[in-house]
Amino acid sequence: MRLIIISNRLPLTINKRQGELIYHPSAGGLATGLASLEGNMESIWVGWPGKEIKDEWEQESIRNDLKERQLVPVFLNKKDIKLYYEGFSNKTIWPHFHYFTQYTTYRDRYWEAYSRVNQKFADAVLDILEEDDMVWVHDYQLMLLPSMIRQAFPKISIGFFLHIPFPSYEIFRVLPWRKEILDGVLGADQIGFHTFGYMRHFLSAVYRISGHEHHFGKLTIDNRVVSVDVFPMGINYQKYAQPELDIYKDDGSIKIKQLAKETKLVISIDRLDYTKGIPQRLKAFEHFISKNPQYHGKVNLVMVVVPSRANVDQYKELKEEVDTLAGRINSTYGTFDWVPIRYFYRSLNFGELITLYEQADIAMITPLRDGMNLVAKEFIACKEKSKKGVLILSEMAGAANELTEALIVNPQDRNDMAQNLVIALEMNEKEQCWRLEQMQDKLKNYDVKHWAATFIKEQVSLMELQKHNDAKRFTANDYQTLSTAFAAADQKLLLLDYDGTLMNFHPDPQAVVPDESLLVLLQKLITIKGLKVVLNSGRDKQTLEEWLGHLDMDMAAEHGVWIKENNEWRRNPNVSSEWKSKIRPVIKELVERTPGSFIEEKDFSIAWHYRRIDKDLGEKRVREFRDVLMYLTANLDLQVLEGSKVVEIKNAGVNKGKATLNWSNAQEWDFAMAIGDDRTDEDTFEAMPKDAFTVKVGLEKTNARYQVLSVEDIRKLLIDLTNIS
Ligand code: UDP
Ligand code: G6P
Repeated sequence: MRLIIISNRLPLTINKRQGELIYHPSAGGLATGLASLEGNMESIWVGWPGKEIKDEWEQESIRNDLKERQLVPVFLNKKDIKLYYEGFSNKTIWPHFHYFTQYTTYRDRYWEAYSRVNQKFADAVLDILEEDDMVWVHDYQLMLLPSMIRQAFPKISIGFFLHIPFPSYEIFRVLPWRKEILDGVLGADQIGFHTFGYMRHFLSAVYRISGHEHHFGKLTIDNRVVSVDVFPMGINYQKYAQPELDIYKDDGSIKIKQLAKETKLVISIDRLDYTKGIPQRLKAFEHFISKNPQYHGKVNLVMVVVPSRANVDQYKELKEEVDTLAGRINSTYGTFDWVPIRYFYRSLNFGELITLYEQADIAMITPLRDGMNLVAKEFIACKEKSKKGVLILSEMAGAANELTEALIVNPQDRNDMAQNLVIALEMNEKEQCWRLEQMQDKLKNYDVKHWAATFIKEQVSLMELQKHNDAKRFTANDYQTLSTAFAAADQKLLLLDYDGTLMNFHPDPQAVVPDESLLVLLQKLITIKGLKVVLNSGRDKQTLEEWLGHLDMDMAAEHGVWIKENNEWRRNPNVSSEWKSKIRPVIKELVERTPGSFIEEKDFSIAWHYRRIDKDLGEKRVREFRDVLMYLTANLDLQVLEGSKVVEIKNAGVNKGKATLNWSNAQEWDFAMAIGDDRTDEDTFEAMPKDAFTVKVGLEKTNARYQVLSVEDIRKLLIDLTNIS
């Protein structure tokens, strides 16, 4: 199996010097992080080499050079760069997803170019793709790619990772192309984010915009399971903790060391980007200087700003703002022997970067929004030897979720930042060491290899689940086997669940009442000679009687508390209902606290339904509820059943499986079949004869022999059965 990685930017950028092509490493978290991946899987990386190359000969020569390094270039022309890269990627998605809606441009031309260039990437991938490859698409520039690749290769395994934040639904919904973007990403089998927050926002947008509901992060889309999960990206720890010795020899590194001897060094390193909070940091530093004259002459801020996206207006404006601010602060507070801010607008070589990290007393990493921020992690790793240094980190960086021992600040609050700078300057070495070690431990264990390996491992297990589902998918051949067995059998048993099997779930109670075509279908089934049809449901017997009682059909109600045979209901003798008075008040209180949820009281069970309320709130309440129930049901011989958006409390020892035995054991059957959709139906499947046809509706893991996708498929299957006889 080969891994095909696709990102907008290749880890190598091309430049031309005196007509000659020069390749050097790309900056930015994605490129530096992925570049340090090596593994046992053969991998090919597809992406843009970062420069417009017009000449076809030159393109060919680059293609050949890169081939040796397992890289495949996608060449972007001037228009692509302007409209797709600078346009939709960096003037629309980037600001929007970082909550800078005031900078977002909504322009159809950008969107058209985005789709067109995503297709260009897709074509480059399709040129090299083979059936058993695994695909991993990266980041916001290529959000349409997963579904484009899926169209051409419906069975291929595709992962997608977003390296930037996914904004809250209230922000995301503003984008005119929100649905197309989600559909594009949902072409993947696995979708990864740096933090749980981003994942939550994504799932909520998917639900509200596309209508797909998730089950513990799993969505069912078309015939596929799509898994959404959190994979915080790490760094190549050893590369920073134990750098090679020859990197320190250059001039820059020597000068940084000299400066560190003279004053306390506070550093900051970012691409020039409005998300990084550079002006806010400068103002906080100014505030610190103005309030703490005792530190004049003793502290330097070394601020490295790496040029980035220089053709985008906001970046140009930001450059001017930063230049002016740094100049003003230096001219206000500087002396003949002290320049408070050493400001560099350029990129660093690896030696300079490491030396700066190692020599710094404090790193001030205070983005206004940042998907992860690897600089913060690299700084911590570089303190492996000295165990000295303090990280001041913005709470808005994804990294703050893991680096909890940093001094966490609000990047908009200059008092907070200035105060923490003083705390950092005064922190004793023991505490510095303790904090660093805690963070280093995490970064060592969760390094970039671990990140990639976990993502890939999860994707492989999803591939297996998909195969399991495909193997169980009810096919035309299976139908042949089933219909032949059905036609040949004299004594036939058919057990049917109701909700989610014969009728779709719906929040409106009227919409779950059996429709005319279902009633006709059931009527036809029960008149088939030799066929016993049983409805095995969790619903109460009154409802079942009201809806279906006129049909000459056996039933089990309340998961087997009641059994209807020969037109008569009888109760399971082992159940009681005295316990209900203890449980009822707890559920009532739950309903009071959770408007929209409701109680369903059956003869021998009580159920709390939350299908009409927000899913996340429902699940939170279930968690709280479960704790209380554990305590209450301990001595009452009760069981708690969690169905689809319902929690039901009932007597132990009663379930759909026990109810099933009533019919499955009653006689020898030539043909037996059971159909159901949720966890409670798994008991039914278990209780059926070994050779029975058991069918699960939905793609979750099951013990049933077959899986079908929807209620509509089941209805069609049953109609076909009525036509056999
Ligand atoms: N970096 C770089 N050249 C420099 C300075 C930094 O390549 O001159 C690297 C840095 O080591 C880090 C990456 O660029 O790995 C920045 O990643 P981060 O996640 O902090 O921010 P991003 O640029 O992705 O927003
Ligand atoms: C962030 C993005 C990357 C991007 C990098 C540098 O890390 O998530 O996708 O490559 O910034 O930006 P650039 O526009 O120069 O590629």
